[in-house]
Amino acid sequence: MPLSVHDPDLSHRLTLARMLARRAGAIQRERYETGLTIDTKSATIDLVTEVDRACEALIVDGIESADLGDAILAEEGHGEDSNAPYRWIIDPLDGTTNFAHGFPRFCVSIGIERTKPGAEPERVIGIVYDPLLDECFEAALGEGAFLGERRLHVTQEDDLGRSLVATGFSYDVHESDDDNLASFRNVVKTARGIRRDGSAALDLCYVAAGRLDAYWELKLHPWDVAAGFLIVEEAGGRVTDLRGGPADRSGREVVSSNARVHDALLAQLAF
Ligand code: IPD
Ligand code: CA
Ligand code: CA
Repeated sequence: MPLSVHDPDLSHRLTLARMLARRAGAIQRERYETGLTIDTKSATIDLVTEVDRACEALIVDGIESADLGDAILAEEGHGEDSNAPYRWIIDPLDGTTNFAHGFPRFCVSIGIERTKPGAEPERVIGIVYDPLLDECFEAALGEGAFLGERRLHVTQEDDLGRSLVATGFSYDVHESDDDNLASFRNVVKTARGIRRDGSAALDLCYVAAGRLDAYWELKLHPWDVAAGFLIVEEAGGRVTDLRGGPADRSGREVVSSNARVHDALLAQLAF
């Protein structure tokens, strides 16, 4: 049984998000390993390609054409933010460095938050689409996380020493001393294995799917985590900041796991 949602407002947005993620993913699949125009952003290692921009334009146009009145926060700057109850948070191409180098690991990430009067925003929809593997990770609040027809569950592993863990390094790693390397060393020395695959959204989905036991990273952004946080939570995992507090929607501190190895991982992270 695939993910289904009863609330008509959510169901409509889920269908639209799914379709737009797949269409943007099709652009990535077509343009992968073809000649690209590559620019740099704030840091020389922070790349953006014409494909990031084309995917974002497609997704934002699709949302705006649906005339829902929703707010949009998209990495490359398109869309209108506002106080509307629903907000779409979009990473049109997560894993741009991989994409630009022909390393086959990147995706489209679309998260939707809902804000009820007087309450904090809540994550209600998450879609992450990997176009090369044709894998669509999906979650809706209270309805579970799915990969296609398959319901996702985090692993049962309770020993960090038997865990496969992923991380990443921020684009200021050349200049900043706050570079995640001390934590990286600690986890290399503790866990069974460590990966740096270059797509935060897929790393979170892999925790949800039981392909990783845990994943942490610092200095991410809302669009890196908006979909993945919900997918991990709906698969039974845990997402927190570095102190074990509530997940940080800004993405500045991201610690995610199957819940069982969470405290052991937190103990290895230097901050
Ligand atoms: C990046 C990727 C990478 C992570 C970076 C992110 P981008 O996103 O998710 O894995 O380490 O911090 O910014 O720039 O490819 O969308
Ligand atoms: Ca990203
Ligand atoms: Ca991106």
